[in-house]
Parts: sequence; C-alpha cells; structure tokens
Amino acid sequence: MASPTILVVDDEQLIRWSLTERLTAEGYRVIEADTAASALAKSEDGVDLVLLDYRLPDGDGISVLKRIKERDPDVLVILLTAYSTVDSAVEAMKHGAYHYANKPFNLDEIALLVEKALETTRLRREVRALRASQAQPYSFDRIVGNSSAVRSVKALLQKVASSPASTVLLTGESGTGKDLAAKVIHYNSGRSSKAFMNITCSALPEALLESELFGHERGAFTGADRQKRGLFETADGGTVFLDEIGEMQVGLQAKLLRFLEEKTFKRVGSTADIRVDVRVIAATNRNLQEEVRANRFREDLFYRLNVLPIPLPPLRERADDVPLLVEFYIDAYNTEFKKRIRGVTADAMAQLRRYPWPGNIRELRNAVERAMLLAEGETLTADDFSSLAGGSVKLGDRVELPAGGLDLEQLERSMVVQALERTAWNQTRAAALLGLNRDQIRYRIEKFKLEKAAGQA
Ligand SMILES: Nc1ncnc2c1ncn2[C@@H]1O[C@H](COP(=O)(O)OP(=O)(O)OP(=O)(O)O)[C@@H](O)[C@H]1O
Ligand SMILES: [Mg+2]
Repeated sequence: MASPTILVVDDEQLIRWSLTERLTAEGYRVIEADTAASALAKSEDGVDLVLLDYRLPDGDGISVLKRIKERDPDVLVILLTAYSTVDSAVEAMKHGAYHYANKPFNLDEIALLVEKALETTRLRREVRALRASQAQPYSFDRIVGNSSAVRSVKALLQKVASSPASTVLLTGESGTGKDLAAKVIHYNSGRSSKAFMNITCSALPEALLESELFGHERGAFTGADRQKRGLFETADGGTVFLDEIGEMQVGLQAKLLRFLEEKTFKRVGSTADIRVDVRVIAATNRNLQEEVRANRFREDLFYRLNVLPIPLPPLRERADDVPLLVEFYIDAYNTEFKKRIRGVTADAMAQLRRYPWPGNIRELRNAVERAMLLAEGETLTADDFSSLAGGSVKLGDRVELPAGGLDLEQLERSMVVQALERTAWNQTRAAALLGLNRDQIRYRIEKFKLEKAAGQA
C-alpha cells in the first residue's frame, strides 16, 4: 500500500481531530466523516481501514460496518465505543469488526492497533491477488489432471515455456488440449507480452496460407493491391501456432523449413530477406511419421519439428482425471449459468469413467454443459448424461440374445462400420468407440474388407 487511507467516522469533532492528527503524523492518509451516510459515501472510493464510532446521529455503526464489509471484505473496521456500549461492541465483532477501542482511548494503543490491522489487510490482499493470478486463463493450473500422464505433460510444458526459442510439436487426438497447451506455453514464456498468432493450416489454399504466414508485396499477385505483413512479422518476439500442420501442402512445407532453420523469410513477391524472432508451435492430430512414409509430409521438416514432441494423452487413457475435469467444468458452468450444482452421483461418475471419450476433453466439457442445462436437481445423475450412451448399450448391462440367435460376425461387422461412419473414418476415434486399439480396428477393417464410401470425408 503506497500510503494507506484510513476513514475516521465520528460525530464528535474533537475525536476526529485527535485521531487525524495522530494518524497523519504516522504517515497515513486520513479522511473524515461525521455521519453514517457520509461514511458510506466516502468509503466508496476505496479505503484500507475504518475507525468507526458505534453511535452515529443518523444510524448505528453496525449497519455501516456491514455495508463496508459487503463491498470489500478485506477492509478492516475498528469500532470506537463508550464504556456503556461494550456489549454491543462484542456484538459488533460478531458482525466482522476487527477490534474495538473504548473511549476515551489511548492514542498509542490506537496507533498500534491500526498498524496491525493494516498489515493484516495487506497480507489478505496479497493472498487474494496471488490466487487470482494463478487462476489466469492460461496458467499451468488451467491444465486439469493429476494422472502421471498429465503431470509429465505439464512438466514438459513448463520446461518448454522457459526455454525461449525451441520449436514445439504438439500431437494428440482431437480435443486433447493442443490449443490450450500452445497458449499455456506462450503465456508462461518470456514472450507473453508479445503476440500469440494462430493459424489453421488446413483452412486456406496453399498460396493464401503462404501470404498469411509470410506476407506479400503490393502487386505480388492479382488482388494484392497493397503490401501486407504476414503472421511471422506481426508475431515478432512472440509465438506463432500452426494448427493442423499435417495438412500443410508440401511446397509450403519447404518454405517453413527454411524459416525454421534460418529465421528469415521473404514476403511473397519480394527478394529481400526479413529476419524475425518467433517461436513456432505446431500441432497435429495426424501421425506425422505415417504422413512422411506416404510422402505427404517432408521428412526433413518432420525431424526439424520433432525435436521437442509433446504428445497429449487421450482421455480414455487417464480415467482418473475424469472426476477432476468434471468438477472443473461444474465450477466453471456454475459461474457461467449462475447454477448451484454440487456434483455428480456415484453412478454417473462410474459411467463417465468407463466412457471412452472419442472426443476427449472437448466432449467431456460439452457433456457436462449439457447435463447442467438439463439437470433438475443439485446433483447430476446418469440420466443427465444419457446422451453419451447415445441410446446404445451401457457397459455392464445384459444384452439379450434374441430367441432365434444371431450372427456374431455380422454383429461385429455392423458395429465396426457404424463406428467408422460416426467418426468420419477416423480410425483412432472409431476404435475408441468400440474399446479397441488402432491395430485391433485395422485388423477388423481388413477382415471385413471395409472401405470408405466415395464422398465420405
Ligand atoms: N487438461 C485440460 N484441462 C482442462 N481443460 C482442457 C484440458 N485439455 C483440454 N481442455 C479443454 O478442452 C477443450 C478442447 O481442447 P483444445 O481445443 O485445446 O483441443 P485440441 O487438441 O486443440 O483439439 P482439435 O485437434 O480438435 O483442435 C478446450 O475447451 C480446452 O480448454
Ligand atoms: Mg485445436
């Protein structure tokens, strides 16, 4: 506190004068009020401590005390009382007064009391500020989970954040937190005050993506009617996040590699090299090694990116984190929707832990959001999450064998086909829907000679 501000409230001018005299001499800023109304008005601008007369011409001190505490619980109030009102003073302490002093009081004692109170306030505010800073949108604490997988990811992110330049490759299925991890790295690095720029490589045709990344000169191509700075220039000193890097065209991959190796690039339509200091974070949900083998991804770029790979684990491999994530999103949506959901039933939690989460944390977040919107009571039940089972068989339920029997092979084939269709032939996610791993689903795709229908994504 620069110079703490103390509000002295008393209707007796002499008392105000003596307190002001003494406290000003101690180096505090003092403002005075002689009624309850003016005390409230003057505390409006923010004070650090209040010395408050118990009896005021237009009301009692307690109501003033309550109002001040409501506005800022960290502000302490010392009540000034005459002997006759000691009982009420005790009552006042129950209402949150920090202390009381009997009139006539000893100014040395008051000075000491004031000093102690202000110290308490300072500490309380410090703790509060610290907590708020930890709850920052992209602090490491934002990455929820206590499984060993998440702890090692966090440790890696922490290392990477503090190493200023290294290129990072985030891999993981959809919804595992690649976006979040990229932001956490940036906002906890020395680059945090500079720009975080973000582009999805699959969203633009190659030529456009190139000019987005590197910028262009006026007249570089039809429609380029003025010079434009690219992402790498804008983010100088900061971070560029290249999402879905696996989808980048091979031609542009070469230019990106050159930039990563030499830190320089040319705007489209220019021959001049521009040098910037940018950290590149790339992300993909593809298996880049496979892409390299299929000649869709440059091997040299892969090795350049893969210096620091951070694989984000799928949620089904860390069921122990499910309760923590559920709690995290319940808190978040309680605030957002002004609800008071306390938790989920044991049944529902067991169901959530068993569920394979093909959409990972994004799917869990959506499931909690939906359940909270639907919930009637204060606790979320398995019914509130019924959309997850998708009307399908719940694990543990007994499936009745039809009286006439069935063809198990055909049933299996049908399930595999449905899983593939539902996930647009994303084998990893389809496998997750069936509780299989990728090899197991591939085996079945071969066995049943399944093929993606034409026109399917
Ligand atoms: N460990 C985590 N703790 C809390 N929330 C998380 C965590 N990981 C991801 N999330 C949240 O899950 C959602 C999906 O994460 P994000 O968008 O980062 O996934 P992604 O891997 O980039 O997915 P995609 O490949 O589809 O782009 C976001 O709302 C994100 O905040
Ligand atoms: Mg993403």
